[in-house]
Amino acid sequence: MTSSSPGKLKVLGISGSLRQKSFNSALLREAQALAPDAMEIVIFDIHTIPLYDGDVEAAGDPAPVRELKDAIRAADGVLWVTPEYNHSTSGVLKNTIDWASRGKDSPLVGKPVTFMGAGSSGGTARAQMHLENIFAETRSHSMSKPGVLVAFARRQFDDNLTLNNDDTKMAVRAHLEAFALWIQKINRK
Ligand code: FNR
Repeated sequence: MTSSSPGKLKVLGISGSLRQKSFNSALLREAQALAPDAMEIVIFDIHTIPLYDGDVEAAGDPAPVRELKDAIRAADGVLWVTPEYNHSTSGVLKNTIDWASRGKDSPLVGKPVTFMGAGSSGGTARAQMHLENIFAETRSHSMSKPGVLVAFARRQFDDNLTLNNDDTKMAVRAHLEAFALWIQKINRK
């Protein structure tokens, strides 16, 4: 995570797909570009997060997990961009949340979070519903509306992974504007 601009709401953006040509990672980059002026989205790459292992954790969080937790702690809110795998979020995203949820000082407690996702016909609706349940357990403050469900993702992104659907761009912008208000409400900034 790189340093961010002073005075702006800092949102950490995490994509739940490791694929180089991931539509979800592309959606996250679009969100970064479409964020309101008062918000800056900084992307955290989860490639280096190991599989959760309680024995490893007992010996001390590995460096990538410490970096993840520090980045979440330093952020005003977290945007999770999820694929849908077998009607849920991806294993790597869930694994990342599991690490971040651990410890009495978990940075997810009280943290404003929101989601979006790109998938097939359902646009990741079921994955996002599962995220709502997961973030209830982590005692985070999740915002699910107005919502961004990118259905038939391969039709909405061109070969360069640029989003070419104006309605989806408007939905992303509206969702991020709502998230800025949500963060301010929760964090009383
Ligand atoms: C999928 N896909 C998928 N899509 C969907 O809408 N509902 C689903 O339940 C599933 N299940 C599923 C399982 C597994 C293991 C894979 C690999 C894929 C399709 C998936 O949404 C599609 O491949 C997305 O493009 C994946 O996201 P990225 O990698 O493009 O970000």
